[in-house]
This record gives sequence, C-alpha cells and structure tokens, in this order.
Amino acid sequence: MFTLFPAWFAWLTEQRHVRNALATGSSLECVNFREHTPLTSGQVDDTPFGGGAGMVLRVDVLDSALRARYGIDPVRLREQRRVIALTPGGRLLDDELVSELAAEQALTLLCGRYEGFDERILEHFATEQVSIGRYVLAGGELAAMVVCDAVLRKLPGALGHEQSAIEESFSAALQGRPEYPHYTRPAEYRGWRVPDVLLSGHHERIARWRAQRSRERDGSDTGEGMAGEGMAGEGMGERPDG
Ligand SMILES: C[S@@+](CC[C@H](N)C(=O)[O-])C[C@H]1O[C@@H](n2cnc3c(N)ncnc32)[C@H](O)[C@@H]1O
Repeated sequence: MFTLFPAWFAWLTEQRHVRNALATGSSLECVNFREHTPLTSGQVDDTPFGGGAGMVLRVDVLDSALRARYGIDPVRLREQRRVIALTPGGRLLDDELVSELAAEQALTLLCGRYEGFDERILEHFATEQVSIGRYVLAGGELAAMVVCDAVLRKLPGALGHEQSAIEESFSAALQGRPEYPHYTRPAEYRGWRVPDVLLSGHHERIARWRAQRSRERDGSDTGEGMAGEGMAGEGMGERPDG
C-alpha cells in the first residue's frame, strides 16, 4: 500500500479475517510516500499545469517511493506484479476482479489524494486502475481497504468457515447471482415466520428453495418454477403491519 496515511490501515489489520490471513502467510505493508519524497519539507504534490483547483500527486515522488521499496525502476516493476492505482474512473471492482487479484502472489496498491495522480504515474508505473464505485472519495485509502478486505477473505484460512466464501453472493456456486436469504432463531418474531422449508430438515428442498430465491433476487426468475412444489413464498408468514 502506498499511502500518505499508513496509520489508517491499523484498523484493517485488526479485523479477524485479515488477522487470519496475516497469520497464515500473507503480509500487508504500508509505505508512506511522503517519507520518500526527494523534495524539501515533505512535499508530495503540486499545482496542476494548465490551472484549475486542487493539488496533483507528483510523478517523481511516486518514482522515488516505489524505487525505495522495490529497489528497481518502477517502470520495470510492472513486469513483476500488478500495480493498481485506485481511481474513481478505473475498472469497477467486482467478484471476478477480486478472485483475479486473490490469485496473484503480490499486489501493489497506490492510494491517491487531493486532485489525484499525475497522469504519468498511471501511464508508466501502474498496470491498471481500479474503482470501488462511480463516486468520488477524498482519498484512495478506503478504496484500498475495500480491495484488501475482499481479496484477503478469499484466501485459504481467512474465514472461520471455508464454505462461507465458496457459496456467497456473486460466487460461481450461485452462478454469479446474489445470495439467498438467511434466517436464525427465533423461528417466529412479531408474527414474522421463518419459511417452513428451512425448518423441514429436507436438504434437497432447502437447496432448491435457496437457488430459487437467489434467482429471484437476481431478477432472472419470477418464482413460477417453484409454484408446483408449493414453495414460492412458502411459510413467509403474514405481515401484520401491512
Ligand atoms: C478526490 S479523489 C480525486 C478525484 C479526481 N480528481 C477525479 O475527479 O477523478 C482523490 C483520490 O481518491 C481515490 N478515490 C476517490 N474515489 C475513488 C473511487 N471511487 N474508487 C477508487 N479510488 C477512489 C483516488 O485514489 C483518487 O486519486
């Protein structure tokens, strides 16, 4: 992680799945690029050529920080690992990209600030740009934490139950669809009943019901296919509050 706020990542490393991933061989390291600036008084940014608001992160500062950490020209670093610049307009982070990143041996994430990166950082040091959504955050740190959280929980040993990451929203096990609903005790609360099928102990019917709910959430199925089995909306209970 290349960031101006490395202390923020302490919170991330306290999260259980991140701790688990770190305990089983992964590592997460932050580099404060302000500490590697070749400029006096810790300067990392400058005003934009052509005018306009805000400050732009300097290419020489990122060059120096990447070089200090990896010991090679950052232009060559791109041949060894994915160097991801977090930007609002980058490739949207989704489960497919998270799986792709989780399969990598190593990743470098560049967190922008202010008006963003000098374009030459994106052109010559980064392999790609990733966005966590089409909105603008004040900085790349939260976006980098989102990437780390999602990637690390895909790694073996990160979750208490391996199955949790296999069958969850957008996974191959659910054909890329959102997950089905979950319920726990009490089986009835304020008149809201848990669907009978989930209390039936009938694994096949439960699996069919879950697959159906998942398809419905995706909008790819109206639930008509379950009607013959008497399972569409089965046991959902009345809603006394209308
Ligand atoms: C205030 S933003 C810069 C926005 C930039 N001027 C623009 O209009 O695209 C500062 C930094 O926050 C990060 N950032 C903001 N929104 C993001 C998003 N949706 N996804 C990923 N990173 C984001 C980027 O690293 C960016 O360089």
